[in-house]
Amino acid sequence: MVVAKTITELRTAVKSARQAGKAIGLVPTMGCLHAGHLSLIHRAKKESSFVVVSIFVNPTQFGANEDFSKYPRTLEEDLIGCEKAGADLVFAPTIAEFYPAGASTSISVGSVAEKLCGAFRPGHFQGVATVVAMLFNAVQCDVAVFGQKDLQQLSVIQQLTRDLCFPVRIIAHETVREPNGLAMSSRNRYLSAEQLTQATAIPTALAAAKALAEAGITEATRLREAASIVLAGQPALKLQYCEIVDLETMAPVHSTAGRRCALAIACHLGTTRLIDNAIL
Ligand code: PAF
Repeated sequence: MVVAKTITELRTAVKSARQAGKAIGLVPTMGCLHAGHLSLIHRAKKESSFVVVSIFVNPTQFGANEDFSKYPRTLEEDLIGCEKAGADLVFAPTIAEFYPAGASTSISVGSVAEKLCGAFRPGHFQGVATVVAMLFNAVQCDVAVFGQKDLQQLSVIQQLTRDLCFPVRIIAHETVREPNGLAMSSRNRYLSAEQLTQATAIPTALAAAKALAEAGITEATRLREAASIVLAGQPALKLQYCEIVDLETMAPVHSTAGRRCALAIACHLGTTRLIDNAIL
């Protein structure tokens, strides 16, 4: 497995893979890899023949009071995980390599980024869209795999890819969960044993709404209420939103009838912000 620290090293390796007739797959990450990330790499291996994993804690997607400085950085372990999962190349640039002095361009994708997490994390999706566009340009991938846990991020990236004509096929990969249902996330490391148990109210709330949806209920208020009752039963969770949204636009809906929708939840548990969703 090649480890590229610079864009030049990355491009040289990707160019020879392409000359050898390989299709390039990209799995963008911020490191601190867990089984969810490894399953994205496995998926990328099925969808392409040369898999690039990027590991970059992107400063532009963190707000001033967010966890950029304490975000776990575990590069040595991550490299072992990537190699075992079959990645061909890891791109792990420094901040100075990826955002050299004077870099000032950023991408705003519009309304899909303004709701839900966008309302609570101003500038977050601008940072995500910008770094993902940079990665697409640096890697020149054919496909890119993203986890469905970050549902709004996925919509933002789909919008970005369409609007800026990136020749990249975006693959949404199913959320990987702990045996107790909690969605895997690098931020779960921040949680105590007690909080890890308290957090399971989130997947339980999602399951309650999904069961109603599967029973034919389409009114958003009823679906949202089923989830809210479960969340309210766990007072340690401080809810930011619990919304039924259209999958493409991320706009809240009154009814799920005839459209692809999801229930999206964000809350704080202590100082840790958790998000999760269920496609209905
Ligand atoms: O989902 C993430 O880990 C990040 O938001 C991403 C897509 C790697 C961009 O920094």
